[in-house]
Amino acid sequence: MYTTEALQEWIEKAIKTLDLSQEPRALYEPVTYMMSIGGKRIRPLLCLLSYNMFNDHISTDILLPAVGVEIFHGFTLVHDDVMDNAAVRRGHDTVYKKWGANVAMLSGDVMCIMAYRYLCEIDDRHRRDVLKLFGTIATQVCEGQQFDMDYEHLSVIEESEYLKMIELKTAVLLAAAAKIGAIAGGAAAQDVEHLYHFGRCLGMAFQIQDDLLDAYGNSDTFGKTIGGDIVTNKKTFLLVNALKTANNTQRQELEYWLSDKNHSPEEKIARMLDIYEKTNVRETAMRTINSYFEQAAKELSAVTLADERKEELRNFAHQLINREK
Ligand code: IPE
Ligand code: IPE
Ligand code: MG
Ligand code: MG
Ligand code: MG
Repeated sequence: MYTTEALQEWIEKAIKTLDLSQEPRALYEPVTYMMSIGGKRIRPLLCLLSYNMFNDHISTDILLPAVGVEIFHGFTLVHDDVMDNAAVRRGHDTVYKKWGANVAMLSGDVMCIMAYRYLCEIDDRHRRDVLKLFGTIATQVCEGQQFDMDYEHLSVIEESEYLKMIELKTAVLLAAAAKIGAIAGGAAAQDVEHLYHFGRCLGMAFQIQDDLLDAYGNSDTFGKTIGGDIVTNKKTFLLVNALKTANNTQRQELEYWLSDKNHSPEEKIARMLDIYEKTNVRETAMRTINSYFEQAAKELSAVTLADERKEELRNFAHQLINREK
């Protein structure tokens, strides 16, 4: 078995050797940029860690599909930054900020298509299953992103609606990454499903942590503009729970700031954070993250392998939910 660090190196190397030198440069330069400005690479890592639990032999049959998953993720981010009007990603200008919406659209599109070409490099035996699975989850990501945008314009949503939205926009891609690794590694059907749910629960925890970092993180470490979700009225875990637990005065304050057009973004962020403090939603978020992590750990425990084969993946998951970036 390989260590997480060794797998990370394989992924970085494979990404560095992607040939993106084609014409027209205006299409491929943003792709090169997006793939080279960093990123945690957690989805390809999940894919390889999951594969490696069942199979010691890592080859391009799994490495290239894992890179395909990362390219797909890159595509979702390029488009997401247009939708969220975001200027900073991974500590750099977004493709949207640097080149504008038209370039972000088309370079994002070509990344999505490239992703499928890399996924096709999976062993013949698994190609149909993997492509079908990926088609399903790619559709779900679009659904989640639309709910995310729709909810910006609603004053209140249920927590269950929030959870469904993050499952679609974020969790299913982590689930698919882990599942593809398990399928290609030759896992039995039940274990493949455990890995899917492991990735899904981890993805839920991961998005709630992302919501937390968007409000409380350090912009240098996190690589994104802090408070972006507050400014765009995103229905994050924090806001949904603040609206749920607020007393009348706090609810009125929240509603005031959600419809405010007269104050600076800094002022809005500061006042919203005050309400988050008063309603204790930060602690609620941390508790919920831990509970999803526990669910993920249970799914991993149920996999029919010796404990030592699962340790690398379990440690990786643990680090992921305690991240600062
Ligand atoms: C950002 O994903 C989008 C979310 C689903 C929260 P990551 O936090 O994995 O972004 P990078 O790839 O490391 O930049
Ligand atoms: C991420 O949601 C979901 C996808 C990109 C599919 P966010 O909008 O919270 O992601 P960040 O915070 O911009 O990375
Ligand atoms: Mg978004
Ligand atoms: Mg965003
Ligand atoms: Mg976010």
